[in-house]
Amino acid sequence: MITINEHYAKLQASYLFSDIAKRVDGFQTNNPDKTIIKLGIGDVTKPLPQACIKAFHLAIDEMADEGHFRGYGPEQGYDFLREAIATNDFQARGADISADEIFVSDGAKCDTGNIQELFSRDTIVAIPDPVYPVYLDTNVMAGRTGTFESGRYQGVVYLDSVKENNFVPSLPMEKVELIYLCFPNNPTGSTISKSELKNWVDYARENKALILFDSAYESFIQDESLPKSIYEIDGARDVAVEFRSFSKNAGFTGTRCAYTVIPRTCRAYNSSGESEYLHRLWNRRHCTKFNGVSYPVQRAAQAVYSPEGRAQVKDLVDYYMRNAALIRSEMGGLGYDCVGGDNSPYIWINGQSDSWEFFDLLLDKAGVVCTPGAGFGKCGEGYIRLSAFNSFENVRLALQRIKEVLNR
Ligand code: MLT
Repeated sequence: MITINEHYAKLQASYLFSDIAKRVDGFQTNNPDKTIIKLGIGDVTKPLPQACIKAFHLAIDEMADEGHFRGYGPEQGYDFLREAIATNDFQARGADISADEIFVSDGAKCDTGNIQELFSRDTIVAIPDPVYPVYLDTNVMAGRTGTFESGRYQGVVYLDSVKENNFVPSLPMEKVELIYLCFPNNPTGSTISKSELKNWVDYARENKALILFDSAYESFIQDESLPKSIYEIDGARDVAVEFRSFSKNAGFTGTRCAYTVIPRTCRAYNSSGESEYLHRLWNRRHCTKFNGVSYPVQRAAQAVYSPEGRAQVKDLVDYYMRNAALIRSEMGGLGYDCVGGDNSPYIWINGQSDSWEFFDLLLDKAGVVCTPGAGFGKCGEGYIRLSAFNSFENVRLALQRIKEVLNR
């Protein structure tokens, strides 16, 4: 008899964004004349930067030519991209990361979801609340939690991110081993200072813990004093893995390219308490389960670091940040407390009412899709998240419609 992984039965019926997409499709089917504006999932709307398109085309031409054709590439990514990443994203900011510590992949979602495979089933996991659901759901699937009761999984240490702590969780009172952090934060848009991040690094060093740092939104940081990488903090190399993505800065959500950084000194421990390097383990996993990102996509990603690419990516980020500023000022003007939107593309809005009811109200009456805060965890109840990823015209129109509904 083939039996299933019973831990899947503990999960909520469907993944948050699939659930929302289903509701939105249902609404559209019943209201075919309504134009819906999507400020829900953080999916970009602007095309790829021209520099990336050019590199993409050139690489495809190479693939069409027998003399330049390439088959399987290195699982970890081509050196040209790994070098560009290490030099520009880390060394240029004083972070000691080398090319061979970069693992190029097809998405930060996959990497943040897959990394937990390296750790034992009884690992004590600390997860922020609210949180990007992937961190939590993948640990549930792996059997690292108990059942879901009163809005939370048993056995998980939740790190509340609430107004009282400026949406930056405090260190846990109990000992934890695997810590998920995401800054600029999804969903709240909050940021962490270098000194706050140093507290986490110190905690991980003192407690033999590991930090999984999701930095997918670093390019939206405007405040130069904020860390873009956890490796800007002394001592982080030994206790942190970092995830980055080309999805949000360069519009690669449909093209797929991201990377994970595992410094060679980053360690975990075996059951005898001896340290083991994670670089070796992740490399083993990566080579076994992944065959690399396609050559043209990696050439397109490399172009992000060219002078034209940099300028075009900055234009994209500025474009979405203008939307974010508008959302924040208009929602604030309506009397709602807002966080985020200044160093992140997400605005976390205290709707002071049930999140899903607020979601339904905006969808039914304004034709605007948001993400209900409760979908990100218990502490998200009462909030909604608006994303700045859409055209400026659509964002302006969405806000006009929202104002009409909420001012009634
Ligand atoms: C989000 O809306 O939270 C993100 O776009 C989801 C993702 O990147 O997978």
